[in-house]
Amino acid sequence: MAEKQDVVIIGAGAAGMMCAIEAAKRGRRVLVLDHGKAPGEKIRISGGGRCNFTNIHAGPKNFLSDNPHFCKSALARYRPQDFVALVERHGIAWHEKTLGQLFCDHSARNIVRMLLAEMKQAGAALRLETAISAVERIVSGFRVTTSTGTVETDSLVVASGGKSIPKMGATGLAYRIAEQFGLPVVETRPALVPLTLDQAHLEKLGVLAGVAADAEVRFGQAAFREAVLVTHRGLSGPAILQISSYWREGAEIVLKLMPEVNIAGILKAMRRTNGRQAPQTALAEILPRRLAHFFAEEARLTGRLLADLSDRAIEALATSIQAWTLKPAGSEGYRTAEVTLGGIDTRALDSKSMQARDVPGLYFIGECVDVTGWLGGYNFQWAWASGFAAGQAV
Ligand code: FDA
Repeated sequence: MAEKQDVVIIGAGAAGMMCAIEAAKRGRRVLVLDHGKAPGEKIRISGGGRCNFTNIHAGPKNFLSDNPHFCKSALARYRPQDFVALVERHGIAWHEKTLGQLFCDHSARNIVRMLLAEMKQAGAALRLETAISAVERIVSGFRVTTSTGTVETDSLVVASGGKSIPKMGATGLAYRIAEQFGLPVVETRPALVPLTLDQAHLEKLGVLAGVAADAEVRFGQAAFREAVLVTHRGLSGPAILQISSYWREGAEIVLKLMPEVNIAGILKAMRRTNGRQAPQTALAEILPRRLAHFFAEEARLTGRLLADLSDRAIEALATSIQAWTLKPAGSEGYRTAEVTLGGIDTRALDSKSMQARDVPGLYFIGECVDVTGWLGGYNFQWAWASGFAAGQAV
């Protein structure tokens, strides 16, 4: 005899645990299955161990999707302040770091513990180290065959995440289940990921590895103002991770270093007051020293005096720094990507409940859905909001 549940949730991550709490609070018999040894592993490592659990500014504009209006309903029904209230009820201290990003003061483990405590209190069960071998439709719902037995359920919620960081247990299971039931999947790709440069660029930029600078990074209409970091493989830092979700192979990105600084104006003023200094020395007042040297050298100005530079030469130097155009070779891929762009096509889902329109009882939530947030707590907010939405419906 197969075990019977009202709701089976595949994936004990952020979305799955939130859904389990809400469904169990409604009196549903809930079982969460996960092949991992521990629940919420991505929560544990997130935000450098402090979990950037939401963003107070989270709204539909902070998400990428082929169907941008889809996320509105769930985001409106479970807001950042709802999660903050939960965190506060559990006495977890938090702070705003920057740009509306909320972090735990101490440890991301507190968020995992909080979700587990809520699940326990609501009566949701968790079964770990359980591999899913098959999912099938039966008259009364779904049958899930696992390494620890067979479970039959009225509602099946797929919350198994995306493809990012396979070492942490990410699999493409959600996309396979979607395909099995005829739901379309928007092409997936690594997002919030460092970008790589080709060998020629790496040789040139090698001297800059480890240098960080404030920048506005632009690709098409998308622009992000945060730090950029040069690495041994290419470019990283929050502004690069943000733009990686928009960038496509073969295209260029434009970096405006020190976006608020009028570099040409400052250099011209320095030319008047201290024209006997080298251009790289003057630039080092504005930029990290290695970047100052790099741009002066690129412009072949290192042997000259500031006083000898024409307005045009100064303006060209400033442009090379504030419209620095680079063509990434690729990205570091799912190995280091924070999230997966694309996923279950939201046109096949109901935006209020996250239920598959053509497969009653089947739900998809969290990262596996084609809704991808910016860096900064937005992805967890989507996990909580979509988990909450399904939790009210299953
Ligand atoms: P999630 O990946 O959390 O959970 C899926 C669960 O399903 C896992 O427990 C997994 O083991 C299980 N599973 C997968 N395949 C399975 C299978 N075949 N059988 C059984 N179980 C299976 N976001 C944010 O907002 N703020 C932040 O600070 C960070 N920081 C961050 C750091 C790093 C290093 C990464 C990789 C990611 C982030 N993120 C983030 C993104 C955030 O972690 C992500 O968006 C959410 O965890 C997605 O939640 P889900 O519940 O959808 O999937």
